[in-house]
Amino acid sequence: MTAAAAAPITVEAIAARYRAAQQLAREAGEHASAYFRRLETLTVESKGTQDEVSIADRDTEAFIRARIAATFPDDGVLGEEGGDDRAGKRLVWVIDPIDGTACFVNAMYTWCVSIAVVVDGTPTIGAVYDPNAGELFHAVSGAYAAVSGGAWVNDRPARVKAVPDFRGGVLGVGFSHRSKPDEFTPFLHALLTNGGMFYRNGSGALMLCYVAAGRLIGYYEPHINSWDCVAAIAIIQAAGGRCNDFLAHDGMTRGNPIVAASHALYPTLVAATGKQIT
Ligand code: IPD
Ligand code: CA
Ligand code: CA
Repeated sequence: MTAAAAAPITVEAIAARYRAAQQLAREAGEHASAYFRRLETLTVESKGTQDEVSIADRDTEAFIRARIAATFPDDGVLGEEGGDDRAGKRLVWVIDPIDGTACFVNAMYTWCVSIAVVVDGTPTIGAVYDPNAGELFHAVSGAYAAVSGGAWVNDRPARVKAVPDFRGGVLGVGFSHRSKPDEFTPFLHALLTNGGMFYRNGSGALMLCYVAAGRLIGYYEPHINSWDCVAAIAIIQAAGGRCNDFLAHDGMTRGNPIVAASHALYPTLVAATGKQIT
């Protein structure tokens, strides 16, 4: 280990990035909103089955990257649209400029900006901004949890809702064509036969934040990418919830399944997925 790698990352360094992440998520949300208001002028390109992108995604990510580079030039960055320059970095910003692009390009309002900072491989800072609802979900979790003193929706505390089983509320789900339908439909069967109900709004980041805020009782998606969920994982953990070890097995690069719920519901949710998820 080098001397630089061994240097402690201070609480002040985390607090500065927490403030910056909140501000940046809000500003990036307004930046993307300017495109949303003139949607008819955007050209939408396909990246794959049910996977689209426009200049709004690319330009909003460029806006976020420029601000990070100006303020924290030594930090790493991984973003959905702009690539990966995090080699050897202990502080890594993980950004999705628009999560819920399919909604965005079809004039639906459930999309958000998701910004995380991963510290030494641990999801630590999360800031997720929904400009249409005017809601910023934000928190610091883990060793630096005292920096935020819990999880927040704007200035209101966010807490995961603890229910004993699926009858206790509505569960968020996600699916992309990175997974096979057969991996997912048995889960829906298990959820419904046990008295549950599902919700999907097209933004994994936003639905995960609804778990943090106690609106949804949990979330499952068989494969999701790190930029979709790492910010929300930090927020859910700070809100008293439990997520799988998402960054295991190089989840940062390759993605993984995501399971999130209260500690009470988590084992039931994992069992319903039919997968070995820790
Ligand atoms: C997608 C959304 C969707 C989820 C997918 C993501 P994008 O992100 O979060 O809800 O099911 O796994 O890829 O393409 O809108 O940024
Ligand atoms: Ca996304
Ligand atoms: Ca995106």
